[in-house]
Formats: sequence, structure tokens, C-alpha cells
Amino acid sequence: MKPIQVGLMGFGTVGTGVFNVLQRNQAEIKRRAGRGIEVSMVSRRNTALAQEVVGDRATVVADARAIIANPDIDIVVELIGGYDLAKELVLEAIAAGKHVVTANKALLAVHGTEIFAAASAKGVMVAFEAAVAGGIPIIKSLREGLTANRIQWIAGIINGTTNFILSEMRDKGLDFEVVLKEAQRLGYAEADPTFDIEGVDAAHKLTLMSAIAFGVPVQFDKAHIEGITKLSSVDIKYAEQLGYRIKLLGITKRTPKGIELRVHPCLIPAKRLIANVEGAMNAVVVNGDAVGTTLYYGKGAGSEPTGSAVIADLVDITRLHTADAAQRVPHLAFQPDAMSDTPV
Ligand code: HSE
Repeated sequence: MKPIQVGLMGFGTVGTGVFNVLQRNQAEIKRRAGRGIEVSMVSRRNTALAQEVVGDRATVVADARAIIANPDIDIVVELIGGYDLAKELVLEAIAAGKHVVTANKALLAVHGTEIFAAASAKGVMVAFEAAVAGGIPIIKSLREGLTANRIQWIAGIINGTTNFILSEMRDKGLDFEVVLKEAQRLGYAEADPTFDIEGVDAAHKLTLMSAIAFGVPVQFDKAHIEGITKLSSVDIKYAEQLGYRIKLLGITKRTPKGIELRVHPCLIPAKRLIANVEGAMNAVVVNGDAVGTTLYYGKGAGSEPTGSAVIADLVDITRLHTADAAQRVPHLAFQPDAMSDTPV
């Protein structure tokens, strides 16, 4: 069967990660998806930079709309970011009958209801594992692994930049501004870093987790948001002396009045696992009535961790999109050609 055809709209850090991991793990991914997955088009304004990475393995275009206009493309991956252009492109891709994968938490937290309704009316999928906590499969865990549960609450460190800043301020006594610059240099921060330090990025991600966990519409405008800009090294030092760490947490939970959504710095006893999540790492704690408390930890940003999450969605869509039910291979199905990978 012909590989499913994918177009990447936006080909920067994450796009490159998607492209490279798909190439490197081609055989395993094909086995798990039941069909090959091929990136045949990528778009980037600076086409020469994209061409350097893809060579002759994909067509490079400057205009993302050329991907949507191509009838051979089955899945469009939106990696442009931001609100306006990304929204237009996603809605155009849906209208053209393409499935959409996006890492754009800002877009979905604010315009998700409209986008999901458009996708549902058209009968296509919109998947967004990469939008929350980078490489941690938290969307699939909430949606699939914990599907039997009535979720009670979620609390997480879901912004790597601020966790990196707080860790470096505590460990090295560095100033906020110095560490923020380093986070930008390392590629953790958003294009507009105020989204990170003011808690907006964490609130975008929290809104998406909350919608999935509690079955409510995305309601970013209801979130209480407070970042880390008012914290000083002295606060961090005093917290330490009292046996606490300061972490920027996103918390969503059921209350008698409805679903609560809040992002703010919290004092956490230093012995707790989540207090020891350092640097740009993310961690999400989920409490369900049947399972109890569960913890998910990993890289919340970066080229291949986020690429890993995008590809997980590509595999899911490939399996569901493929008309022949026999091709809908469960991830753990026994397959003879997998035997070479089994330890002897
Ligand atoms: N700016 C984000 C962070 C990137 O620092 O976590 C990943 O969403």
C-alpha cells in the first residue's frame, strides 16, 4: 500500500525532529502504523534552509497553502505557531478534507472549539499530542490509558522555560534575566517569552488537558494566570530554608462550582517527587478515582521529543484513516517481521 502522505507546514526545530525521527525509525513506525508514513512536502519561508535538511526526499515550498492545495496530501501538520495564520491554515486544511496534527497549544486553547467543530463536520481528525508537555504522552494517557476513570484533578509543571529559570536561580543563585536569556538560547522559550514567564503557555496546555479530562469545552478565558516574574532569589532561598521548593504549577480540578483552572507559583515540600523536577523537564500528576495518583515525567520541549509526539498522532491517524480494517494494527499485535527485534 502506498505510504500515507504528510505535509509539514512550518519546518523549524520541531519539523526537523519529525522528519529525522520518521526517517530513522521508518521500519518500526511502518509496522506500528500498518502502513508507511512519508513526509512528501514541507513549507518554510526560507526554502534553502529546509532544502538543506530534506535534500531530494521531499518537495520544499515557501507557501504552506501549496501543501493544502495538493490533493495527494492526506495529513497536514501545522508547526507554524501563533494564532491568526495558523488558524486560517488549519481551517483551510480541514475544509480541504485533510486530517490535521498540530503542536500549537495557543491556537487550540483559544480557538479549539471552532476548530474541533469544523473537523467533526467534515469528518476529519485534529490531533495535538505535541501541544502539551512535549514528548510526554499525556493526551493519550488522559484519553486512553485513564479512560476508565473519573478524573479528580491534574497538577503539573508544564512549562520548561520557567522550571529551568526557577531551578537555575535556586542552584546557581543566578538572576532571572540571565537565566531567561539562557533558556531562549537553548530554544526552550516561546517566540514571545512573556507567554512562558507570565504563565500563559502553561495555561494554554492546562486548558487542553482540562478539556480532555473533564469533557468540557476549551475555556482558556476562565483560567487564573500568574507567572514567575514577581519572584526573586530571596523568595526561592527562604522557601528552601523552610523545606520547600517553588514551582510554577498548572492545576485543574473538579469543584462544587465547576472546573477550576489555575496557573501560579506554588510552595511544594522538598521531599515530593514533583518538587525535584529540575531544569526544562515537565511532570504531570493525574488523579483518577479508580487508578489513584499517577505521574508522567519527561522532556517538555525540543526537536525530537516534540517530534516524537507529532509522529504518535501521525501513526494514530494512519491506523484510523486506513480503510482496510485489517490494517488497523494494534500497537502490540504480534507481527512476524518484528521478530528480528526481539531479544534472544
Ligand atoms: N516554551 C515552552 C516551554 C515550549 O518552555 O515549555 C514547549 O511548549
